Amino acid sequence: MGNGIAQVAARAGYDVVMRDVSDEFLQRGMNAIDKSLQRDVDKERLAVEDKASVISRISTATSLDALKEAAIVIEAVTEDLKVKSEVFQTLDAMLPADAILASNTSSISITKLAAATKRPDRVIGMHFMNPVPIMKLVEVIRGMATSDQTYNKVRALTEKLGKVSLDCQDSPGFVSNRVLMPMINEAIFTLYEGVATRESIDGIMKLGMNHPMGPLTLADFIGLDVCLAIMNVLHDGLGDPKYRPCPLLKRYVDAGWLGKKSGRGFYEYA
Ligand code: CAA
Repeated sequence: MGNGIAQVAARAGYDVVMRDVSDEFLQRGMNAIDKSLQRDVDKERLAVEDKASVISRISTATSLDALKEAAIVIEAVTEDLKVKSEVFQTLDAMLPADAILASNTSSISITKLAAATKRPDRVIGMHFMNPVPIMKLVEVIRGMATSDQTYNKVRALTEKLGKVSLDCQDSPGFVSNRVLMPMINEAIFTLYEGVATRESIDGIMKLGMNHPMGPLTLADFIGLDVCLAIMNVLHDGLGDPKYRPCPLLKRYVDAGWLGKKSGRGFYEYA
């Protein structure tokens, strides 16, 4: 999702540093941005010169050092509390005192991430939806210590990015994944129990409920590892067995079948 966030920020006129752990991942991110903007050029929603200037506002780096002058960092690393906390700790030590640390986490506690820093008042959740360039929502989550100033700045930024921000308390899975992920997990249970084929499950939800994608297709699109991580956060955080991740989801993740990004999930991708 990082490249989608970089794209919308650059398109809104901001200078962006997109940071990842390897040049290969950065190149993949830049390719995704190019493809997404080209779609808008082809549909005459963006001039060729404007596409070039959006791209020119994005620089890439593998070192976190490149972020040290940022006014805001939007973190979108792997959905793991330890990894995210380490990134927050490192950034906290190097960023300007008034910089905001936002997390695009889909379920992890903002209060816990903030506790890894010495600036908990400037830590906040900015949860974008995939695909970032076209989905309007940013779920804004305040941690226990998030200040009004941080919250107001982030709301204003969200608006400048052309998105709609909706507030939510810092609770496991927030609202989006507290509601979405159990539905996806239940769809996986119906497949696991042989209630219907993958095509029927997706077709029923798509045609019957007017969802743009069936739940299994959507799970592949989100990433099955991400879906499992979110179910674990719901299960651990709320302590209710109704959030138990489906064994089939675990098995797919164990196999490295992570969905679209790995070429195979509930469906196969070329
Ligand atoms: N970048 C830019 N534009 C894109 C795009 C991208 N990556 N992907 C699609 N589009 C645009 C297309 O250009 C097209 O635009 P127009 O209609 O204006 O011409 C429009 O989106 C529709 O695209 P397509 O016709 O190619 O395909 P589609 O009709 O199947 O739509 C979709 C694709 C928008 C992704 C749609 O299937 C959809 O809304 N799916 C559900 C997405 C969803 O639920 N996202 C939330 C996931 S949960 C999450 O992200 C949070 C979490 O924590 C897990």
